[in-house]
Amino acid sequence: MKSLVVERPGRLSIETRAIPEPASGEIRIKVERAGICGSDIHILHGSNPFARYPRVIGHEFFGRIDKLGDGVHARLGARIVVDPVVACGTCYPCSVGRPNVCAQLAVLGVHRDGGFSEYACVPAENAHLLPDSVGDDKAPLVEPFSIAANITDHTSVFASDIALVYGAGPIGLTVIQVLKHVYGVKELIVTDRIDQRIEAARNNGADRVINTAQTALPAALADAGVKPTLIIDAACHPSILAEAIEIASPAARIGLLGFSAEPSTIVQQKVTAKELAIHASRLNSGKFAKVIDWFASGTLQPERLITHRFGLDDYAIAFDTFEHNPTECCKVQLIF
Ligand code: NAI
Repeated sequence: MKSLVVERPGRLSIETRAIPEPASGEIRIKVERAGICGSDIHILHGSNPFARYPRVIGHEFFGRIDKLGDGVHARLGARIVVDPVVACGTCYPCSVGRPNVCAQLAVLGVHRDGGFSEYACVPAENAHLLPDSVGDDKAPLVEPFSIAANITDHTSVFASDIALVYGAGPIGLTVIQVLKHVYGVKELIVTDRIDQRIEAARNNGADRVINTAQTALPAALADAGVKPTLIIDAACHPSILAEAIEIASPAARIGLLGFSAEPSTIVQQKVTAKELAIHASRLNSGKFAKVIDWFASGTLQPERLITHRFGLDDYAIAFDTFEHNPTECCKVQLIF
């Protein structure tokens, strides 16, 4: 089979490997479609602190059950998506329903081989059946939308919220769709620095957009007389937290997704004086079923995020397009 492997930082290639056999409790999936994520690029460039090499990357993938390991009962040929979070099930975070921060966390495509491969073996419990109403193109988007499902669960969202989302990249757009189309927030403000991404924010549910390459955000909000009650940082620069604390309404919630190793300098007094709640969110804890329901019911339009599709053999163009063309590119899919 063909597998897309980062052999070492900077070196991505297709390898021919033996088709793997599912171990006890695993299924083998014949992969049909996958999505490229920013973290795949980080693994390629050696800037993902969790990755080990060589690694078959890819954690947004869809296909059909092809073979069952011992003890697994499932229908061969069933359409599935795979939750990449593999957890021990017994540590403290697992015991309180937070497998996404398991003490032994293994993420498919990061710590373990992932889905950019013609076949992949995964724990059967990580496979989620997909109803026929969710088409193949939408399937690999369940994982990125699970990021939005997780952070919005942490922050809570109310219909009365004035929400602000920093960043209208792929992750920001999932958050925008969930805030507007699942929760129906009263007002949704989105900021980015790229005109095309601002436009994408509008197309995915933003009521008000602010291009911070042209206008300073605090001044724009002050002019409009708006104080966000919910802020989600999907741009993830370390300077954003301090600004978010400054512009937030008293009693607001702030959601963080970033992995920067640089410090964010914040003033305790401002957090406490407004009694702000700051929630961090990593990956997802059991949110696949919820996202599949959202897709199946037509609540969300995940296909709006797809801008490019390439065959596996064109992986080099696919990765180059994803990484270097943020004005035209959002989600890039690999077709197997
Ligand atoms: P991206 O880089 O494609 O999008 C980020 C967007 O933010 C860009 O459009 C950029 O122009 C904009 N931006 C940058 N600085 C800004 C600022 N100061 N104000 C407003 N907009 C700004 O990245 P993608 O794939 O959308 O991911 C976003 C972030 O989410 C990344 O930092 C990624 O590491 C993180 N992430 C976190 C996850 C988690 O589970 N915690 C999961 C997936 C991604």
